Amino acid sequence: MNDAFGSPQSILVLGAGSDIAAATVRLLVRQRARTFVLAGRKPERFQAVAEELRSLGATTVELRDLDALDTSSHEDFVDEVFASGEDIDLVLMAFGVHGARGDAQLEHDGALDVIRTNYVGAMSVLLSVTKRLVAQGHGSMVVLSSVAGERGRKKNLVYGSSKAGLDVFCEGLAAWLRGSGVRLMVVRPGFVRTKMTAGFDAPPLATTPERVAAAIVDGLHRRTEVVWVPPPMRWVMSALRHLPRSVFRRLEI
Ligand SMILES: NC(=O)c1ccc[n+]([C@@H]2O[C@H](COP(=O)([O-])OP(=O)(O)OC[C@H]3O[C@@H](n4cnc5c(N)ncnc54)[C@H](OP(=O)(O)O)[C@@H]3O)[C@@H](O)[C@H]2O)c1
Repeated sequence: MNDAFGSPQSILVLGAGSDIAAATVRLLVRQRARTFVLAGRKPERFQAVAEELRSLGATTVELRDLDALDTSSHEDFVDEVFASGEDIDLVLMAFGVHGARGDAQLEHDGALDVIRTNYVGAMSVLLSVTKRLVAQGHGSMVVLSSVAGERGRKKNLVYGSSKAGLDVFCEGLAAWLRGSGVRLMVVRPGFVRTKMTAGFDAPPLATTPERVAAAIVDGLHRRTEVVWVPPPMRWVMSALRHLPRSVFRRLEI
């Protein structure tokens, strides 16, 4: 259960190798979170994060295998996590791939891999997690969406469409969850300097994993449903959404 200050005590991270996820768990352990289940497809990549959490006061840090693409394993994975210990207060959904850029985006296998990871895989785990959290009667889900899902852009049309699908699913799921004791917060960062964007030119308003983590924790305390990082992205995307398509297409963004 969340502690007396409303901070989550036990956390499940889906995609624990993510730089944004690592920054978020570092912040949560400083706010007295004590139990962590870190899941991802290559646990050796977040072994160091696990050690850090232990050194900062975490009492239990468990590492588990999870492949977003292996949807047939998700139900069992979630059942095992929820059966193995105390209630889960917070589930952070952080896995994702950007995929190729430029014309290579339209390469068939690569494009499907992005959709299968960011949309199908994310939705598959979320369906199982939702069932468990609702049975538990409390808990929060935080899902990393993106401003890329706001409008179709030629530079990231496959990635953007995967995040648009995920974001709409989450918006509907948040509405469906009302009254269940479970809530869902969608996070829409702009450009964040992480492994995913290494080598990309950083645009204005580019931010850091630590700022995204701070916005997530702040959003949880304020019980917000949608978090934009940095906050002005909300107004930038609102303006872009209302531009006529003929003008929007000409922008090199
Ligand atoms: N960086 C940005 O500008 C930005 C902006 C908006 C939203 N986001 C979203 O924020 C989330 C975290 O991104 P990040 O920037 O922290 O990127 P990151 O450091 O590259 O982390 C992405 C993580 O996803 C994992 N992953 C990829 N495919 C997987 C699969 N099939 N099964 C399990 N895990 C898988 C990766 O695992 P491996 O280590 O095994 O590859 C990696 O740990 C993503 O959903 C991303 O789309 C990022």
